[in-house]
Amino acid sequence: MAYVKPHAGLWALGFFFLLITMGTSLLFPKLLGGLMSSSADNLRNNMLQMMGLLAVQGVAGFFRVVLFVMVTERALAAIRSDLYTHLLHLPMSFFTSKRVGELNSRVASDTAQIGETLTTTLAEFLRGLSMVIGGIAILAFTSIKLTLFIVGVIPPLIIVTFIFGRFIRKYAKKVQDEIAESNTIVEETFAGIQTVKAFANEAWERSRYRERIQKVVGLAITGGYYRGAFSSFITFGLFGAIALVIWFGAGMVHEGELAADKLNEFILYALFIGGSIGGLASVYAQLQKAVGATETIFSLMDEQPELVHAEDIEAAQVEGISFKEVKFSYPSRPDVPVIQGLSFDLPKGQTLALVGKSGSGKSTVASLLMRFYQGQAGQISSGVREVESFDLQAWRKSLALVPQDVLLFGGNIRENITYGKTLATEDEIIQAAKEANAWEFIEGFPEGLDTKVGDRGVQLSGGQRQRIAIARALLKDPQLLILDEATSALDSESERLVQEALDRLMEGRTSVVIAHRLSTIRKAHQILVMEQGQGIERGTHDELMKHNGAYAELIRLQDVLGSDKSLVENID
Ligand SMILES: Nc1ncnc2c1ncn2[C@@H]1O[C@H](COP(=O)(O)OP(=O)(O)OP(=O)(O)O)[C@@H](O)[C@H]1O
Ligand SMILES: [Mg+2]
Repeated sequence: MAYVKPHAGLWALGFFFLLITMGTSLLFPKLLGGLMSSSADNLRNNMLQMMGLLAVQGVAGFFRVVLFVMVTERALAAIRSDLYTHLLHLPMSFFTSKRVGELNSRVASDTAQIGETLTTTLAEFLRGLSMVIGGIAILAFTSIKLTLFIVGVIPPLIIVTFIFGRFIRKYAKKVQDEIAESNTIVEETFAGIQTVKAFANEAWERSRYRERIQKVVGLAITGGYYRGAFSSFITFGLFGAIALVIWFGAGMVHEGELAADKLNEFILYALFIGGSIGGLASVYAQLQKAVGATETIFSLMDEQPELVHAEDIEAAQVEGISFKEVKFSYPSRPDVPVIQGLSFDLPKGQTLALVGKSGSGKSTVASLLMRFYQGQAGQISSGVREVESFDLQAWRKSLALVPQDVLLFGGNIRENITYGKTLATEDEIIQAAKEANAWEFIEGFPEGLDTKVGDRGVQLSGGQRQRIAIARALLKDPQLLILDEATSALDSESERLVQEALDRLMEGRTSVVIAHRLSTIRKAHQILVMEQGQGIERGTHDELMKHNGAYAELIRLQDVLGSDKSLVENID
């Protein structure tokens, strides 16, 4: 209702037309009854009245539908956009615990349920209701005795409707949930199609999907039993009552208590009312489905978003970074400490290299710096201020992250490079591409910057994607650069190109680099060796080599294992 409110005027107008169609529907049985029992001279007149009524109903019906669609589509757009915006602002912890396919389904199919309700179901519900109430009132004028007959049937019908409605709603909600669940399979397999094919797992995925779909079918059919039972109950109760009414009324006609033409009219009304109650039942079921969808959407809306004050805020001023006894565990696994009392100081303009075994918490440090998550203990500060005191958007605007696995957006190269600075000029874009050593291959494409990169960048090579991500970071010109270097084995020529680009990016800039390349590590002002979320050694390359501890061991292992790593070293 809150979403319909801004269009209250239109909605009221639509409602006005709905009232007209309600009125004409109510008159319809009366005129029909008149037509059936009219004398020869009246026939033409009655027919004209009938046509007039239908014309009014037709016109009013047209405007009712159009106006309701206008209101609904606008309300729906607002719901979708609010839901999407809300989801965008939810913290990382939300997204790591939900699957994207499910969210897609919520935004698309649950909102569609609500739309259906607002356009047609609600109108049908009101019209059916008015038909029942108004019809009964009109009947009462014709014959109280007969009307009481019908009214006696209604309260039990309503009670049964509510009981059935609860079951139907329960199953409708389960069906929606299962659909969302099956959508995640579609989403994930298409996103990871290469892996699916590489493992020749199409059959396995197909049966996994079928299983899910089968569950949907099972639930929907169980729901269908309730609906079917419901509708046959309604038919039986209702039309049984009508048959009784006719039987009773015919008796009254024989006794001379009721005129024969009144009985015609009465029967027509009774049929219309019966039809409306039957219709109301299915409309009620539809309403229940929409309520189920609304509940899920609003439970998503109730999730706590990240604190964002203004979207177009200036970037924050970053004065180096210091970690003091930071402790952190992921919200999804609160018992597993990932960062355990980590401390370091990174002065402005310098580079800190994080090295360590896989799983030691390096990428987690990057996430904490980006404020994707909040540490549970200790302090992360920049200069004299704790990073939490900066506006979140302002803070992130002053940072750039080149992640471990670069994902590009599906558009063209230009859009991907300008993602951090949408208003960049052509010259700036080309400049950034050149500095990232990306210009050469971009120029090589017939469409240059307008080359489509394919879904998530699949039409580019790994090294090309990386250099585009670097160009994106260069263009943003961040005050703090966070580089989660991919271990991907580039050939030595590409590696050199990427390395050069990185060097330019890091020059004189406060940088945290999760480094695997010796050349990057060597140039860092400070190296922090991590193990199980702790800093176990700190110093420059030479200092740590001399110390002959964990770092020296790591380097030796790299020399033995990674032949291209030593190649780079030789070039250096
Ligand atoms: N979203 C998450 N939820 C729960 N645990 C996580 C999450 N992300 C990472 N972890 C866990 O945190 C630990 C540190 O992970 P992290 O990604 O920081 O390691 P890393 O040092 O970057 O490793 P690598 O060199 O392989 O990239 C791992 O044990 C990992 O399983
Ligand atoms: Mg990592």
